[in-house]
Amino acid sequence: MPRVTPDLFSILHDPKATEVLIKLYKAALGQVPKMILHFLPKVFKMLGKGIDWKTENEAYFNDKYIPIHPAQGAFLYLQARALNAKNILELGTSYGISTIYLAKAAKDNGGKVTSTEYLPHKIKAARKNLEDAGLSEYAEILEGDARETLKNINTSFDLVLLDGWPDLVFPVFKLIEPNLKKGAVIIIDDVEGFQPSMQNYLDYARNPANGYLSDTIKLKKAVEYTVKI
Ligand SMILES: C[S@@+](CC[C@H](N)C(=O)[O-])C[C@H]1O[C@@H](n2cnc3c(N)ncnc32)[C@H](O)[C@@H]1O
Repeated sequence: MPRVTPDLFSILHDPKATEVLIKLYKAALGQVPKMILHFLPKVFKMLGKGIDWKTENEAYFNDKYIPIHPAQGAFLYLQARALNAKNILELGTSYGISTIYLAKAAKDNGGKVTSTEYLPHKIKAARKNLEDAGLSEYAEILEGDARETLKNINTSFDLVLLDGWPDLVFPVFKLIEPNLKKGAVIIIDDVEGFQPSMQNYLDYARNPANGYLSDTIKLKKAVEYTVKI
């Protein structure tokens, strides 16, 4: 993660959101040294095929931000604008970092992001962060386990970010699959590091017979991504 400076968030053209994101990313960065120690014994596995989430102690992550990278945030925002996504779904609100990017895109597209999270203290903090960013009215946070909160949802989504625990990717994807619009884009975080936990999803989404095209995108060399709005 680079040094947290306002230019990281320039794509949003939103001073309030930028101020909140700077505060949140600084707090997230403060947790990194301890997290490096946590993952140090598993680093070779993570760099190889990745680790299985089942071996993780979930409670360890209760107060962790574990946000998307600002470059992923910029990509998500641009992608949402490119699709003119009006209905955006997110699993894994945490403290609201990715939700802020998506809510800003929803605002600019005239839409809304629906996010879901099951830890009450994170939900409370995320709502406050969205409010401070001036984006509350563009984001709804469904409280509870995504496998319940998304059960009877009847919105059709243009863009989905699955960033909950890695082993939830496929079950939650199958749950919301009937709600995907034609041309919908689904973005999965942590495919690097936790691939074994989402191999079932990758096998499914990478098989065109199931109606999807899917690949891991790793932008090794910088590209300028421009969207005509
Ligand atoms: C990697 S973090 C999300 C980070 C966030 N997207 C961001 O960029 O700041 C994953 C979040 O998913 C939440 N989560 C995990 N399993 C869940 C479930 N079954 N239902 C709802 N939320 C869940 C966790 O509590 C955690 O806050």
